[in-house]
Amino acid sequence: KQKIIIDCDTGVDDAQAIMMALSRPDTDVIGITCVNGNVDIENVCRNTLRVLKICDALHIPVFRGCGRPIIHHEENASFYHGVDGMGDHPHPPEVDLSCIQEEHAVNALIRLTKKFNGEVKLVAMAPLTNLAVALRMDPGFGARLKSLVVMGGNMHGKGNRSASIASEFNFGTDPESAYIVLHEVTCPIVIVSWELCVDYLYPWEMVHKCINTNTPKANFLQFITKASIEVQKSSEQPGYRSCDAFAMAVAIDSSVVLDKVDIYASVELNGTLTRGMLVPDWRNKLQKSPNVTIVTKTDTQKSLGLWMNMVHV
Ligand code: BDR
Ligand code: CA
Repeated sequence: KQKIIIDCDTGVDDAQAIMMALSRPDTDVIGITCVNGNVDIENVCRNTLRVLKICDALHIPVFRGCGRPIIHHEENASFYHGVDGMGDHPHPPEVDLSCIQEEHAVNALIRLTKKFNGEVKLVAMAPLTNLAVALRMDPGFGARLKSLVVMGGNMHGKGNRSASIASEFNFGTDPESAYIVLHEVTCPIVIVSWELCVDYLYPWEMVHKCINTNTPKANFLQFITKASIEVQKSSEQPGYRSCDAFAMAVAIDSSVVLDKVDIYASVELNGTLTRGMLVPDWRNKLQKSPNVTIVTKTDTQKSLGLWMNMVHV
């Protein structure tokens, strides 16, 4: 079985990504580390437990991580994910926050990668604060990962934040951490960018089929996705976008990736409109060795299959 750790800010699409990973018999989620992002850390922890409860997976350890980015603490994404961060379900599954591990998420990342040196794939789908702090505490942390799959950043400056408009939410929320991770993690780093997620949508017909399946997981999914489906339909999008689920598909099944590019990329830290933007050196002007692999084309049918399957198993 492949061992993965999920670093998340659960979140409607984080929830789907977790459900997807748990539906795979070949994947062992050995821990989930939470971080501030879509909503505050307490709601992130609570939402993560809710997802695990619905999936009957409360045995997976959940760790509370950093409660704010390295420097600024500007926007959250409750306008999209709901005030509670998961669609403001009127009767959410009851969970007990004392189930959260006492160990801090950063310590857990360090410990688990020592225990399973070279075996763990880390799927990061939130601001990268926990990872950056782990690197500061233990510079060897990144070298002990098998690989790191990041949902974050953008290929061409198309963003989804309102403060620095050229940044994607996860990178824009904590640019310093994104910078540290890209420059200091030495295992292979795979980037699933905002633009990739925007380009590969799940057709509405299939989305409705999935959430209308009569299982407890599908019912839960129907509630938590309600608002995000309304927002996305109102912009006449031809299908549903679920960034973190999309990144999870890439992480758990590498055959989902049809094309990719190895490239040197950095993160803008100083711009007003561009702070947090991922800047790939497309024309190799800096002549530096590639530090990331950016996914440029995926097998949508395969990723859709993984997405649809999350409500069944
Ligand atoms: C990313 O930002 C968050 O709102 C989502 O959960 C996803 O991780 C998309 O830009
Ligand atoms: Ca997320």
